[in-house]
Amino acid sequence: MNESAVTVAREDTPDGEVALRRRGEVLELVVDGVFAMDTVDTSTEVLLATESLRRHPAPATVLVGGLGLGFTTRAVLSDPRVRHVDVVELASPLVGWARAGRVPELAGLEGGGRCALHVADVGAVLRGGAGPTGPWDLVLLDVDNGPDFLVHTGNARLYEAPALAAARGALAPGGLLVVWSSHRAPRLLAALGAVAAGGDWVDEVVLTVHREGRDLEYALYALARGDGG
Ligand SMILES: C[S@@+](CC[C@H](N)C(=O)[O-])C[C@H]1O[C@@H](n2cnc3c(N)ncnc32)[C@H](O)[C@@H]1O
Repeated sequence: MNESAVTVAREDTPDGEVALRRRGEVLELVVDGVFAMDTVDTSTEVLLATESLRRHPAPATVLVGGLGLGFTTRAVLSDPRVRHVDVVELASPLVGWARAGRVPELAGLEGGGRCALHVADVGAVLRGGAGPTGPWDLVLLDVDNGPDFLVHTGNARLYEAPALAAARGALAPGGLLVVWSSHRAPRLLAALGAVAAGGDWVDEVVLTVHREGRDLEYALYALARGDGG
């Protein structure tokens, strides 16, 4: 039987409702009035962090685009090699609730002094039009479902070559850009290939998740910056 949802926090913004809802043990996030994610299976959000950290020899600085429910960020912080994480989140209520410790999933992220939460559009940050400023060893983007099933049409450009080139430009030498997607996205892989310079490496990692009786294919799209600058 489905448990009914209890609203833990909600706020109206010019872009729509932002809310946290508890359904039994499960926490749900609504952004701009649209279901964004829940905590039923956060393995791919964690893998965005762990797979990226595994590929970098010394990931001291990390940018996470999209706080969500904090799973990617917490996984980044659990790596002692990481000195500082900038988390950029568009929905200001979410950052306020994280700072206030409104739910345990988001509580205490800034407490250890290695993590800073910022309210901004990560596209603007990557273009250098808003803080924080890089470069970063890892740039991890999980702001939407991926290029083919967008929740927010305004995020479409983040998956296109100019924004990906800006993200590449925000990487420190040897840095790694990784983009999470709820589906395989050949056009995103091609766009990464188009912005890659000599010495860069681009690839796709397919992640299979069993949910509600079905196998779902998620994917990570990575660009590792070579030494070509
Ligand atoms: C699916 S959630 C991220 C999940 C996160 N990886 C985790 O581990 O919980 C997507 C988040 O990105 C935020 N977001 C959407 N568009 C954004 C943008 N352009 N810049 C920054 N954050 C954005 C949403 O408000 C939401 O909090």
